[in-house]
Amino acid sequence: MIKLLLLASLGLLSAASDPKPFDCGTDTAHASEDFLNTIASLHDGQTSGSPAARAALAARDKDNNSAITVDAVFHIVAKKDKKADITDDMPQAQLDSLNESYKPYGIDFNLINVTWNTNDAWAVGDKDADLEMKKALRQGTYRTLNIYFQTDLSGGVLGRCTLPSPIANGKSDPTVYANDGCNVNANTMPDGAMEGYNAGKTAVHETGHWLGLLHTFEGNSCDGPGDFIDDTPQEAQATDGCPDAPPKQSCPEQKGADKNDPIHNFMDYSIDSCYEGFTALQHDRMHHMYNMYRDGN
Ligand SMILES: *[C@@H]1O[C@H](CO)[C@@H](O)[C@H](O)[C@H]1NC(C)=O
Ligand SMILES: *[C@@H]1O[C@H](CO)[C@@H](O)[C@H](O)[C@H]1NC(C)=O
Ligand SMILES: *[C@@H]1O[C@H](CO)[C@@H](O)[C@H](O)[C@H]1NC(C)=O
Ligand SMILES: [Zn+2]
Repeated sequence: MIKLLLLASLGLLSAASDPKPFDCGTDTAHASEDFLNTIASLHDGQTSGSPAARAALAARDKDNNSAITVDAVFHIVAKKDKKADITDDMPQAQLDSLNESYKPYGIDFNLINVTWNTNDAWAVGDKDADLEMKKALRQGTYRTLNIYFQTDLSGGVLGRCTLPSPIANGKSDPTVYANDGCNVNANTMPDGAMEGYNAGKTAVHETGHWLGLLHTFEGNSCDGPGDFIDDTPQEAQATDGCPDAPPKQSCPEQKGADKNDPIHNFMDYSIDSCYEGFTALQHDRMHHMYNMYRDGN
């Protein structure tokens, strides 16, 4: 959910707002119990169990792999003096970036609405203002992806997003429900001002969380379940930039190709030009999670 700003090199934030890596509700510490149980059981099913259980899972995966079209609503939220930074063609360019990135994984996006808002408090989105904004702007249902592109997103991050949870079933808590969606620094939209991060891939990364993926370095350890996905190499440290030569190896004890960190994976923190895609099991996980939590809700 979180991408760290390279504070020093970008010089866009004062050092006083030095971010903590996981302060945005996108790590397992902020996930619902239901979400955690689900990823643990999907993870176990992929690696263990009887042949019959694995066959059943494979069959279910097959059902879960039919194409998904996600309805999306983009909310442009600018400070008064930053309105001009976000041009009319940026939402469409952002949609193209999402479509292009997710197309190999059977997911595309249908942009059903764009709202344009000028509000200095919402553009920063501190806690109360964030909820007020989302209550005012959120559209659609639990399967509608709402992304808030804010010119001055707070917290020293480029984005954050909610993980799926069963809240939609009862629609019991309007506050939690309204909160569902992604906050993205608007300058990361294609041709935005955030150098290195302005090809629209922050929204791609955040949408990965919305579809149920964790960071490839979740847990920051060479042991343990990490991101609960077996075909992403274990990774103890988030990536900055694109350190591919020599390859970054935060868990050098791993075997073979898994020695190299998954720096090209959308769920790492690499720069936009470094990102290449998701893995096969991340693909399966997103389809599962969408069908389980979002579709029909
Ligand atoms: C997809 O997977 C979810 C989670 O395992 C399951 O609840 C759902 O029934 C599956 N959908 C289909 C169409 O098989
Ligand atoms: C993105 O996907 C949607 C849904 O399939 C489609 O309507 C739209 O034309 C696509 N846009 C691009 C640029 O591919
Ligand atoms: C788009 O959003 C506006 C609010 O900004 C709303 O009035 C309108 O009904 C929405 N259109 C659709 C197609 O949902
Ligand atoms: Zn993230």
